[in-house]
Amino acid sequence: MPHSSIHSSNMFMNKIIAKKQLSADVYEITVEAPLIAASRKAGQFLIVRVDAEAGERVPLTIADADPIAGTVTMVVQTVGATTMKLAALPEGSYVADVLGPLGNPTHIENFGFVVCVGGGIGTAPLFPIVQAMKAVGNHVAAIIGARSKELLVFEDRIRAYADELIIVTDDGSAGRKALVTEPLKELCARTPKPAMSVAIGPPIMMKFCAATAKEAGVPVMVSLNTIMIDGTGMCGCCRVTVGGETKFVCVDGPEFDGAQVDFDNMMRRMRTYKDREDHDRHVCRIRLGTT
Ligand code: FES
Repeated sequence: MPHSSIHSSNMFMNKIIAKKQLSADVYEITVEAPLIAASRKAGQFLIVRVDAEAGERVPLTIADADPIAGTVTMVVQTVGATTMKLAALPEGSYVADVLGPLGNPTHIENFGFVVCVGGGIGTAPLFPIVQAMKAVGNHVAAIIGARSKELLVFEDRIRAYADELIIVTDDGSAGRKALVTEPLKELCARTPKPAMSVAIGPPIMMKFCAATAKEAGVPVMVSLNTIMIDGTGMCGCCRVTVGGETKFVCVDGPEFDGAQVDFDNMMRRMRTYKDREDHDRHVCRIRLGTT
């Protein structure tokens, strides 16, 4: 497991090469991490610590990588204190640790016809999967959705690789006014139907995509985004139930057969630290002067 930064001096830390704000609370951050950039595969993720001193470890998916430049790109939504601190760092500053690539890569093969569904910032980690599915010869239909136009991410990147792109928004401000499950159902009803589908986004979206695909008899992979601490199978906080068995997202996943995942249990567990997280986010806003 390559570890791109094992020391607290700047020489070993990960420099922020570029930062772009994609929407009100979503940032695209590119950091130097040459070992990760050279070895990562679609579907893998990182664990990032912003501060070397007592920094919280947050899992972030890899949205893109440039092995020649030695950089990896993450898309970060400021949902908690650590992601707010990360998004507040300017270009040229350093992130204490970027650990990875973690997790199992996506199973990529020429299935023939594949549907890839991304919701919200789930569209960013979907991008390497779209690229990889296309590279091995699949016909790739992508569906990307968000609450509104301003919250759509990676539209141009996905468009450059997908054979078909369907955009949906909750309010109709871009593409169709629909949930992602609507076009998913239509694509699953085609003849021949898709041989594989992939859904990445909020748990509730993945739950309904999995149900839609399952009903149509189409296999569905989902990438789970649980709370994580160590990312190596030791702490147990990323525990989920899949097919009645306990699995750890960090080492057994992050991708699982969506038809087998107990999403209700996963969503209950993800709410465990909500009060503490709300408190820390509030304190962080005060410190950063954004409230
Ligand atoms: S993050 Fe600790 S076991 Fe997975």
